[in-house]
Amino acid sequence: MASVNILSKLKNVRKGQNLSVLDIISIENLTLSDLELIFALTRIFKDLVETGGKKCDLLKGKTIVNFFNENSTRTRSSFELAGKHLGADVINVSGSASSGKKGETLGDSARTLDALNADLLIIRDANSGAPFQLASLIQAPLINAGDGWHEHPTQALLEAFTLREKVGKKKLTYLFVGDALHSRVFGSQVRLYQKLGFEIRLAAPATLIPKNVENWGVKVFYKIEDALPGCDAIHAIRLQTERAAGKFVATGREYSKNYCINPARVKLANKNAVILHAGPVIREFDIRTEVLESKQCLVQDMVQNGLPTRMALTWLLITSKLKKTNPWK
Ligand code: CP
Repeated sequence: MASVNILSKLKNVRKGQNLSVLDIISIENLTLSDLELIFALTRIFKDLVETGGKKCDLLKGKTIVNFFNENSTRTRSSFELAGKHLGADVINVSGSASSGKKGETLGDSARTLDALNADLLIIRDANSGAPFQLASLIQAPLINAGDGWHEHPTQALLEAFTLREKVGKKKLTYLFVGDALHSRVFGSQVRLYQKLGFEIRLAAPATLIPKNVENWGVKVFYKIEDALPGCDAIHAIRLQTERAAGKFVATGREYSKNYCINPARVKLANKNAVILHAGPVIREFDIRTEVLESKQCLVQDMVQNGLPTRMALTWLLITSKLKKTNPWK
């Protein structure tokens, strides 16, 4: 019965619309209409999760593969839960335990999973552009769950949904702080917030600012105190040490002293400015605990919204009337 009710709500909002894309690789390719559809469906799935009606069989009989070649806590577990809540069979393949370790190429691993009739492949990989390459090799739709320094589109979507819920549909003045150079979250969010008409600022050391970032409509500041006045949202970006970002700053201590989000810095922004972080958060380094655990901080809300956002994306792609061509024929 729950499935019948939820399906009718979803259909009412969807009105037969499919996403304009067959895979979700980059925010670049999503239209404003796609974004509105994703946010509206996320709201319905969120209501379902919150009212305890987590399980429904909308995707019964479908198979979802989580193919993660890099560590993850929140993205992988929320994609797995999303699939299971929708009634699909979900399998997890991790790089460290896959045949990639025996010399199989990433493309051949993806083709192997495709040949098992996967209905959706979710991929995380350290190589920027890997999802783009794989998408053309397989018939199943593909979702990029983070590729190298490039993009992490579902993370950007869940944050934008959280902002809609908490501060409404406004054109915000939004400040990124920290290692934008190595951050795929930054890569997706800049693209998304440009589409949504935000004023985007970045405060970071010169060595961690992407080349020509001003061409993406980003105002650059080297001193965080200069960037904060007038801001509605402050997003702390973790120093991506797994991508050798530590070599781009003199010392971690100096970087943290200059860019950690502390209570005094929050006071320089607009009253009630919200604090964001994609996680994992490095406490006292990226954000001080008093700020992380304050009411203004939306980190836990973001994690919670990851589940319905990924339910919406999973359902939209698997049930899309637009199908990829079979690369085998
Ligand atoms: N934000 C994010 O991608 O977190 P995980 O690495 O834990 O998935």
